[in-house]
Amino acid sequence: MIIQSKVSNSSELYQKNYAYQLQQVSNFKSILQSIVIRDEDEAVRRHRSRGKLTVRDRIELLVDPHTPFLEFSALAAYDQYENQFPSAGMVTGIGIVQGFPVVIIANDATVKGGTYIPETIKKHLRAQEIAIQNRLPCVYLVDSGGIFLPLQAKVFADRDNFGRIFYNQSRMSALGIPQIAVVMGSCTAGGAYVPAMSDEVIMVREQGTIFLGGPPLVKAATGEEISAEELGGAFVHTSISGVADYLANSDEHALYLCRQSLAHFFAGKKNYQPPFPPVEPKYEINEIYGVIPPDSRQNIDPYEVLARILDGSEFDEFKANFGTTIVTGWGKIMGNPVGIVANNGILFSESALKATHFIELCCHRNIPLLFLQDISGFMVGREYEHKGIAKDGAKMVQAVANANVPKITLIMGKSYGAGNYAMAGRAMNAHFLFTWPTARIAVMGGEQATIVLSTVKSSGQVNLVEQFENESTAYYATSRLWDDGIIDPADTRTILGLCLSVVQFAPQLPPQYGIFRM
Ligand code: COA
Repeated sequence: MIIQSKVSNSSELYQKNYAYQLQQVSNFKSILQSIVIRDEDEAVRRHRSRGKLTVRDRIELLVDPHTPFLEFSALAAYDQYENQFPSAGMVTGIGIVQGFPVVIIANDATVKGGTYIPETIKKHLRAQEIAIQNRLPCVYLVDSGGIFLPLQAKVFADRDNFGRIFYNQSRMSALGIPQIAVVMGSCTAGGAYVPAMSDEVIMVREQGTIFLGGPPLVKAATGEEISAEELGGAFVHTSISGVADYLANSDEHALYLCRQSLAHFFAGKKNYQPPFPPVEPKYEINEIYGVIPPDSRQNIDPYEVLARILDGSEFDEFKANFGTTIVTGWGKIMGNPVGIVANNGILFSESALKATHFIELCCHRNIPLLFLQDISGFMVGREYEHKGIAKDGAKMVQAVANANVPKITLIMGKSYGAGNYAMAGRAMNAHFLFTWPTARIAVMGGEQATIVLSTVKSSGQVNLVEQFENESTAYYATSRLWDDGIIDPADTRTILGLCLSVVQFAPQLPPQYGIFRM
């Protein structure tokens, strides 16, 4: 059925929403620009004066010309550490190389020598996870001084710290995921294992170095005096140690060699084509600004969003008249079939059961799931508890967690409490998770939290409103990598279409459960 929008572009409400959202998006874009464009920065000038390309220029040369680059978590570490770590000193994303999607993990040596703070580690591990989930080749553009030493206690020894990078590399290798390292600068200490554990290593002459201990450490340990180039430069590793395989004359040459390596890997492989020809929605994507209410306490109408992102605005709804606070059904995005689970109010038992049933169907039909979140949580109160809402919510969480098909999550509005979990929040291992700039993520709203804590505290009132306000913004969330990035709502269709084509490379697994009618 084709969704008919109920919104008039000329209405006062639409105009008000549109203007507000436009302002929010422009604010998001100006923050992004300040992170991405740093030409005036002294470290960037020094980097270029050494004949090196900047991290984003490197990526541009690596990927096929005029193809999209889906960048992850560009605002990692934003508004933390006095903003001294733009993008947490690393650019990650999916680019198209030789016509195929590839995960790229690239250090930015102009940010504290490309060293790793907690958010850099999270970003690196998340990009590897995306490569694993979707079975995509992985390219490391290495230029890093390793661990940011003042924060070593936060990045070195725990399970998901620096060492996990190498654990992942081993596991990826065993899974047959190709990994290519292009050494364009420093690879010191633990960082030396990034190339050492890759399938193929390309090294740039007089720029790349690989060693377990740099010259100062060698002098301190053994008294030996040696230059970095003699100790572990590109010539040493391509002709004496064999740690690297190809000697490149420049960054440009190294990226060309990397493209060649991937061409050999992709040779003869079948690329993904969507099963249906893409059809534009009946409504302009930009109109999406006009259907997002400025106040997150108001619900976003999921039908209005679907009308602007689905092919032909066509949506075949499942159980349209039952459990109506959740909307489920089938559609396509850019020719890719997708099962939609979208909030349309608070979650009740019926809505949770309906979503569970629908998720099971998608699992058996091998259709990826798209969760559109705008959820204040599950219904509370005597009537609902007595009816067992906790066990109905649990069924939905079971279905989401064990779904054998790829999950993509978009946090459009609020994402509170167990609603976040049931709707495939970060903990549920979604293949991709993006947020809109005005999204809000927290255990509950600040006013409710204040009432709860004031009630249980033995003395004195508390006010958590301001704290919750600050901690629940999309910027706070993305800075800490609770998502894969904030996106402009007007890019939603394109980005989801790209993600749906990427998840087709993921292994197809059998369903973990039968279909229970709820
Ligand atoms: N921890 C913390 N800060 C580091 C660092 C590290 N491991 N490596 C570099 N930095 C900082 C520098 O202090 C400097 O900070 P500043 O701008 O506030 O002064 C900034 O990063 C740039 O370093 P600089 O040496 O000026 O840049 P460079 O491009 O000439 O060299 C490196 C970069 C990474 C090759 C060089 O800094 C280096 O060898 N660092 C030590 C690497 C190391 O031994 N790591 C072991 C940890 S596993």
